[in-house]
Amino acid sequence: MTSEEKFKKVISHAKEYGFVFKSSEIYDGLSAVYDYGHNGTELKNNIKDYWWRAMVQLNDNIVGIDSSILMHPTIWKASGHVDAFNDPLIDNKDSKKRYRADVLIEDHISKLESKIQKEISKAEKRYGDKFEKDQFIKTNPRVLKNHEKIKVIYSKFSSALEKDDLIALKKIIEDLGIVCPVSGSKNWTEVKQFNLMFGTKLGASSDSATDLYLRPETAQGIFVNFLNVQKTSRLKIPFGIAQTGKAFRNEIVARQFIFRMREFEQMEMQFFIKPGTQKKWYENWKEQRMKWHLSLGLGKENYRFHDHDKLAHYADAACDIEFNFPFGFKELEGIHSRTDFDLSNHEKFSNKKLKYFDTQSNESYVPYVVETSIGLDRMFLAVFSNSLCEEKIEDGTSRIVLKFPVVLSPIKVAVLPLVKKDGLPEIAKDILEKLKREFRVNYDEKDAIGRRYRRQDALGTPYCVTVDHQSKEDNTFTLRDRDSMTQERLSIEDILKKIESTLSIKSWL
Ligand code: GAP
Repeated sequence: MTSEEKFKKVISHAKEYGFVFKSSEIYDGLSAVYDYGHNGTELKNNIKDYWWRAMVQLNDNIVGIDSSILMHPTIWKASGHVDAFNDPLIDNKDSKKRYRADVLIEDHISKLESKIQKEISKAEKRYGDKFEKDQFIKTNPRVLKNHEKIKVIYSKFSSALEKDDLIALKKIIEDLGIVCPVSGSKNWTEVKQFNLMFGTKLGASSDSATDLYLRPETAQGIFVNFLNVQKTSRLKIPFGIAQTGKAFRNEIVARQFIFRMREFEQMEMQFFIKPGTQKKWYENWKEQRMKWHLSLGLGKENYRFHDHDKLAHYADAACDIEFNFPFGFKELEGIHSRTDFDLSNHEKFSNKKLKYFDTQSNESYVPYVVETSIGLDRMFLAVFSNSLCEEKIEDGTSRIVLKFPVVLSPIKVAVLPLVKKDGLPEIAKDILEKLKREFRVNYDEKDAIGRRYRRQDALGTPYCVTVDHQSKEDNTFTLRDRDSMTQERLSIEDILKKIESTLSIKSWL
């Protein structure tokens, strides 16, 4: 299956099983805005909870807040978003379509990367067990040539981005012969900057209304509450403030399903530190965050760090944790050493002191900040796409399974009476009552048992408890495991213990 076909399956499965719907679908949808269905909401909440527990519950020096989406407009001046939160855009004169210039170039690089990947896969098939991948990459002329091309493009591309050189960006597009995917022509306009913030108004009458922005990141709600939280929590530096919540960006290239949305959710943590210690904390948070990702077992090979060449206006070091999505490695999370940029600017613009008095060193200073920032929707897509698989099974048929990490599964247990008679549904409902106090449980008595197992597999339910005739005699039930499909007979107490132990945070974090 090609990666494009795999990605289409991800999108259709997400819709068919109540995970993600297009927003306003009956009105033909709203571009790059999505709604989460009944199962998607559970998965999303579980991811959020897993992040919150790792950040807030397991760190004595991190607390969580929930700041508002609408904030004083000067905040966005101070943060640099009014002046610098821009994307470089280019229009194709024939199709009248608008593109992000940087994305056109990145897509071109991705095409070269997939050419390399194809060469490797072909050779892998040809040589089988004897294939030496590292040696092949170092010596194959076509792979070497494409690597060299990528290197040259990257060097020109990062230099153009670093200098905000829009003319150079256009030249790269022209030199590479990039064509408009719609018209196929190279008839491009100049590259222009475009601000990504959504504007709105506060107030009833249009004369007196104040112009506001929907927040493009949750981080600023943390910065402006820095002293409120520090004073009321009495935390000492180093300490962190975490927050999850909606952010809004008027993305021009909005595609790839929930990867790039106009309304999305972030999980951010700002860690306040003493100036001069930022390098140590930056490395520390890189390591912590990668550990968190790996704890979910989606495969070490699916993650990599990407250090930024072009730093955002606020950072002295930054990297992404990239994930191997169905369309290749892309940013999942950002880790940024933000210096004192935000707090110092808020001091300047608000005329309020945002200094911290360090009782150990007896000095006052504006803290530096290391930030970790992950998109909840991107994490959802990473988990969902990685978990979806089609498997051949022993009887020759195949099944579609969502092999979610158990701790994230929307429904933990399905309770199924083998038949809809002989008192089995009554016993099953009794069990449902017991289990639902502990986990999210589903009850299903419709169709043959095999079909019901398939249905639960497709939802990613890790356990099915089946009530059969033997249950009436000895009070034992079969517990079916989603991944191995094996079944064992256990009492309800043992089933509870077993599931509880696999869900315990000790087994994960
Ligand atoms: N406070 C820093 C900040 O917002 P960012 O790199 O712009 O940094 C952080 O965004 C994370 O938010 C990204 O790594 C990504 O996971 C997520 N994100 C950003 N834009 C997004 C979008 N349009 N749709 C979905 N997720 C997005």
